Parts: sequence; C-alpha cells; structure tokens
Amino acid sequence: MKILLLTLFMTVSHITVAKTYKFPQGFEWCAATSSYQIEGDNKHSDWWKFEQDVKIERSGKATNHWEVWKEDFNRLQDLGVKTYRMSIEWGRVFPVQGKVDQKALDQYKDMIADLRARGIRPMVTIQHFTLPQWLADKGGWESDEVVSEFLNYTKTLNESFGNLVDQWVTVNEPMLYLLGAYAYGLMPPLVQDWNRIGKPVRNLLMAHAKAYKYLKQDASEENRTIEIGFAHHMRILSPNSGFNPIERYLAGSSEQILNWTILDAIKTGKLEMKVPFILDYEADVSEAKGTVDFIGLNYYIRDRIKFILKPPFILVTKPPKDVPKTDMGWEIYPKGIYKLLKKATKKYKLPVYITENGLADAKDSIRKSFVSDHLKEVHRAISEGVQVKGYCYWSFLDNFEWREGYHPRFGLFEVDYKNNFKRTIRPSAAWLGQVFKMNHLTD
Ligand code: GAL
Repeated sequence: MKILLLTLFMTVSHITVAKTYKFPQGFEWCAATSSYQIEGDNKHSDWWKFEQDVKIERSGKATNHWEVWKEDFNRLQDLGVKTYRMSIEWGRVFPVQGKVDQKALDQYKDMIADLRARGIRPMVTIQHFTLPQWLADKGGWESDEVVSEFLNYTKTLNESFGNLVDQWVTVNEPMLYLLGAYAYGLMPPLVQDWNRIGKPVRNLLMAHAKAYKYLKQDASEENRTIEIGFAHHMRILSPNSGFNPIERYLAGSSEQILNWTILDAIKTGKLEMKVPFILDYEADVSEAKGTVDFIGLNYYIRDRIKFILKPPFILVTKPPKDVPKTDMGWEIYPKGIYKLLKKATKKYKLPVYITENGLADAKDSIRKSFVSDHLKEVHRAISEGVQVKGYCYWSFLDNFEWREGYHPRFGLFEVDYKNNFKRTIRPSAAWLGQVFKMNHLTD
C-alpha cells in the first residue's frame, strides 16, 4: 500500500497543469508581408535599381505572389487569420510620375476585395521601404515634392479601394528605414551622412500627416471609421557592459532615436533628434501632432551597444555565445516585447498592434517556442492593462529579405524557389493556425 501511494504521489507530482493564455475577444490574429518582398518584378522601384548596381542577391520574381495571389489567399484563409497586413508598391501603381498603371491598381483592388469576401481584414501599408525610381531620381525623401507626391499616391489608393480598408499603416518602420538610407548607407540612396537625415524625417512626418488628415476626412464624410498609424521598428538596446556609464548613456540615446523619436514628434508637434557628437536636429512638425490612432510595433531583437573611439562612437556588438539566436544571429529576447508594450502605452496611451514579430528559422526548429514565448509576454502585458489589439506574424511566406536575399526563412509557408515557388506549410504554422482559431495559447 505504502509503495502504491508513493508511486501515485510521484506520478501526480510530475504532472504540471497546462496553463492557458486566453486572448481578448476579437483579438486580431494576423500574418504580414510587404509587396516588394513577395510580388516579384517590381522594376520601377528604387530597390530594383539598387540590386542591379550592388553585389547583392536580386529580388527577381520574389515569391511570384503577383501571379498566384489567389492561391496564397486560400492558404491565408486556411490558416485562420483575421487580418492580413500587406503593402502596396508605389512604383507599380505609379511607374512614371503622374501616370497610374490602371491594371496594377485594379489588381490591388481585386486583392483587397477578395480578402474582404473571405472575411479577412486588410491592414494596408502605403509605403514599405521602397520608392518609385522617378521619385528617387528627384531626391526621394529629401525632395520637396515627396510630400505632395505621397498625398497624391494615397488619394489614388483611397479612391480605388478606400471603401474596403479601415486600417492603414502609412509608412513601415520610418526611423529604421531613414537611418538605413541616410545615416548608415545600407538602403537606397546609400547616404552615410548623419547631417542629411533631418530633412527626410521631417518630410516623412509631413507626408504622413497630410495622408492621415485626408484619409480621416474622406472616411468621416462617408461615415466610415478608420484607424491609421505607423509600424515602428523597436529594439531593446542594452549597454554591452551594464557597468560602463558611457555605454549605458549611448544605449539610452540610441533607443530614444530608434524607438521614440517619431512618436514623440507626433505627440508634441516637435521633431528632435539628438545623437551625442553626431546629430542635433530640431524642426517644427505641428501639422503632424496627434496624427496616429494606434502604435504599430515591429519587434524582433535585442542589440548590445558598445562604445568605440571613432564616429558614430556606437557599435552594435554580437550577442554572447550562450544566448539563443535566430538563423540570422539575432538575439532572441521575448521579454523585450513586454517591456516595449509597457513603455509605449505609458508614454502615449494608445492601443497597440504588434504589426510584425517573427524569425528566420529554416529548419522550423524553434519557431513554435519563439512565437509562444513572445505571445506569453504579450499576454502578460494585456493582463496588466495594456491594450494590445492584434498580433501579426512576420511573415506569411518566405520572402526576399532585402540585403540578405533569400536565405533567411521567415515564412509560415516555405517557398521552394527552385521548384516553381511551391509553398509548403511549416509544422509551426499548423500549430499557430490552431492558436489563431482557438484564440488561446496553451503551455
Ligand atoms: C522588418 C521589415 C520587414 C522584414 C523584417 C524581417 O524590419 O519591416 O520588411 O524584412 O524586418 O527582417
């Protein structure tokens, strides 16, 4: 008897009760993509020209989505998403200045109507890292024409399919994008001059503000309710050595620039960018004040900041060997999403959508735990009162990862580029589809 009880006790003591993480009713489960990364043949965009000039992998046909979008939308529907975050390619709609490619615009309209017919809410990004080449030739975000051109482009989209869209992201990752384009020289126009970044940021804010006001006005005239925001790239930036006061200071100021500059400008109407020794810029952007309805949060990574003795005095070092990483070597730090959610809501008191979160994991060996760990942190923030309205996994499909080309595999669906772009669902996606459908996660 004693032995029986002992065995019973040992068995029971090893059973841990699975915890369930329930998400709020109506939580928007979502998958995300961007046009340039999946459509293929975006020949009128500045990235296309950049690829021909620089020794990096070329996007070419990408995933061929432009041709097989309907089949892809079947997959989205099977996955059980409520929302699909997609972007429109500016250079496809306006291959030359002032002249719409009607066929392309009509295809976007068909795509959006098709999503609606399937009961999927389109979250439409107006600009995701690319510009039409003709606009880039005129100076892109530095040009005085960019603000009116962005508004004209927004009007064209809205007149075509605005009645089907109630959630817009004007610009994807504005600060990361412009830092990459003007300070670090990694994206077109490949400028490496901190003194040139002020004007593009200001122009981008003005373009956003004008588009916001126009879209809101039009929707209100037609009694439609819409919400508009940016998708912000936010990172946790930690000092490489927590004991080094310079590194602590640099990590703090880098976090301010990357994570909060744009949102602060929207809150106060004043744009302020300060990086010790290299940048000190201020501009009045009062027209942009109050022009977001939600915070889009793209979260992937924690970076460690090291102090170096030459400009810009900041170096992002590799994470220590023992921390978990993705195929791209990005440090996995789920707690970061919780910290950012808490801070963002405290600062701005706006609802948040996780507009991107995901990882490159070709073997699909850690995707499930990565997503699960991040979702638990999102759940923790929600249970503490943060208003998170949805979660988009990046990405629906494997795709063209900008400078990195095709080797990083972010997709819920694997794309076989050598076999007619064949799509295969990954095991983690089947699991995530269940989470989407049940609206809860279990340990
Ligand atoms: C984001 C970007 C996406 C995608 C993703 C994965 O910064 O918005 O386009 O590339 O990173 O690296």
